[in-house]
Amino acid sequence: MKKIAVFASGNGSNFEAVTAAARSGLIPDCEVALCVCDRPGAYVTGRAARLGVPVLEFSPRDFGSKRDFEKMIADELDRLGIALVCLAGYMRIVGEELLGRYGGRIINIHPALLPAFPGAHAIRDAFEYGVKVYGVTIHRVDSTVDGGAIIAQEAVPYEGRDIDELTALIHSAEHRLYPAAIARLLAE
Ligand code: GAR
Repeated sequence: MKKIAVFASGNGSNFEAVTAAARSGLIPDCEVALCVCDRPGAYVTGRAARLGVPVLEFSPRDFGSKRDFEKMIADELDRLGIALVCLAGYMRIVGEELLGRYGGRIINIHPALLPAFPGAHAIRDAFEYGVKVYGVTIHRVDSTVDGGAIIAQEAVPYEGRDIDELTALIHSAEHRLYPAAIARLLAE
């Protein structure tokens, strides 16, 4: 059984989709062994409690530096024997400590067809730009914002939809694509 950790800062719908996929066997031989959350009390922590997934909650301001809290996280990942770190709405740039210890084993999901529309408001930015093809990207994490080698992408066509309809479609694509990509990576 391979253990993965999912990092989230807010809602946690991708955390829940990945956990459900692991439990149903859609991601074979995989356990979501840890939810890491940098905003104590975020909605994702309630999801994790309901699903019985251990949570590592922390406030970055309680630490002297990014290196200090990333060391604490990486120590816990080591202790649990985490094979893959999956960022899912973790709204923080991964620093040298985590990249140094888990580099190549950290992936991220982003609600746009990268390299277009990186950053925290990709769907809104794409909508305001007026693009006609939206989508989802899963990529390896490096020191750049939403950079790193692309693992998988899926397009979501505009077809005259409003932003709420597009957002719902993009999220449902994420909830399918992320488990499928994780399953493929764990099988490599
Ligand atoms: C997801 O749409 C994810 O792609 C996005 O945050 C959302 C989190 O939703 N990530 C980024 O924008 C990263 N730049 P969730 O908390 O419901 O999974």
